[in-house]
Amino acid sequence: MKPIKVGLLGLGVVGGGTWKVLTANAEEIARRAGRRIEVAAAAVRDLDKARHLVGEGVRLTRDGMDVVRDPEIDIVAELIGGDTVARDWVLEAIRQGKHVVTANKALLAKHGNEIFAEAHRRGVMVAFEAAVAGGIPIIKAMREGLTANRIQWLAGIINGTTNFILSEMRVRGLSFGEALADAQRLGYAEADPTFDIEGVDAAHKLTLLASLAFGIPVQFDKAYVEGISALAQEDIAHAERLGYRIKLLGITKRRPDGIELRVHPTLIPTERLLANVEGAMNAVVVCGDMVGATLYYGQGAGALPTASSVVADLVDVTRLQAADPEHRVPLLAFQPDALADTPILPMSEVESSYYLRLRVHDQPGVLADLARILADGGISIDSMFQEPHGEHDADIIFLSHRAREGAVDKAIAQVQSLPFVKSPVTRLRVEHLS
Ligand code: NDP
Ligand code: HSE
Repeated sequence: MKPIKVGLLGLGVVGGGTWKVLTANAEEIARRAGRRIEVAAAAVRDLDKARHLVGEGVRLTRDGMDVVRDPEIDIVAELIGGDTVARDWVLEAIRQGKHVVTANKALLAKHGNEIFAEAHRRGVMVAFEAAVAGGIPIIKAMREGLTANRIQWLAGIINGTTNFILSEMRVRGLSFGEALADAQRLGYAEADPTFDIEGVDAAHKLTLLASLAFGIPVQFDKAYVEGISALAQEDIAHAERLGYRIKLLGITKRRPDGIELRVHPTLIPTERLLANVEGAMNAVVVCGDMVGATLYYGQGAGALPTASSVVADLVDVTRLQAADPEHRVPLLAFQPDALADTPILPMSEVESSYYLRLRVHDQPGVLADLARILADGGISIDSMFQEPHGEHDADIIFLSHRAREGAVDKAIAQVQSLPFVKSPVTRLRVEHLS
């Protein structure tokens, strides 16, 4: 059978990795796909660098429109990043009737609804395994493997940079700044790592997972996003003492009144598998009503792991392109006309347990006043301990049972106004994942 022709937009870390995987495993991939998959054209900025990588057999251009409008191309793989030219070229590829594979979570989190609707109209596929958790086939699992289930919740370590930083802070006792510098030196973090450390990259990925889990439109603007840049070394140590580890988790949960969608540093019991995912690795736990909890673990970034997912999508599209569009796996796991309008809950309605830390002037009645405020807010204390700080002060750490975030916000505001409280209250969420 005639080879399938791929146009690559981008030949950087992931695009270059995709080229390498397609070249190194060409025979094995052809045996799986039923025909050869060949790169026919690529768009890059630096033509010389690209020529050096791919040799003479690939047409190179600086204009992605040349690739997406090339009649010879069957599948366009968008591996550029960002949501400017990437959006224009992906939409044009779809309008040209081409299937699209992309690793671009930022693009899909912001413009996914538009892109999926256009793809549905034109009867083409948009596959995005590489956009979430790099080499882990989590999209395939959610779209196909777990299809019998009503998904109840999922929680994931879906940003390798932040997980590496948190591991370094815990294991080597580094400050946030020192650990970040290490991540940059080792090439995990971007030169501008803001999207990673502020939780935005994880929220892009979580937004896509929530759509696949619950059959809802992509709603990045409704996600709660809190990163790790304000996390103090002492909170990691206190958490350890209490039997928890702090991870940047993306969490989405089905509740009777709506869906929770949130990314934030989270205390997890040390014995949970997720708590033991270290370094730049990713892991996602998905809980279905029939299957229970399932765990997916692997490399969440890097040239070859991410390319492994891109190529898996290329094979999927190759196998399915001749199928009637109505009989393909729906892009967002649910039929497009069956998407639900279940609301995303505001953060004040989220339910969690809480870790609270504050510094107080150590005097009679402090604990009584704090306990009264928490009790009045309906917040039950699970455990607490106190550590002296200097001669006259103490740090107090509370763990609460489950409470509504709105009630905790109110209690924190009241605590903050007490005359003996000498620091802002640090609040972290605790998830038992059981
Ligand atoms: P890189 O910066 O390494 O590569 C980007 C590529 O796109 C380069 O080849 C670059 O060309 C090309 N490019 C950028 N802008 C243009 C333009 N205007 N016109 C033509 N070509 C352009 O990015 P990555 O490979 O790291 O990331 C690509 C995508 O994959 C992103 O969406 C990212 O979020 C996602 N991703 C990345 C992972 C990773 O581990 N790196 C993991 C999972 C997803 P040139 O080389 O000439 O500069
Ligand atoms: N910056 C991302 C991470 C790359 O650190 O996980 C993979 O999406």
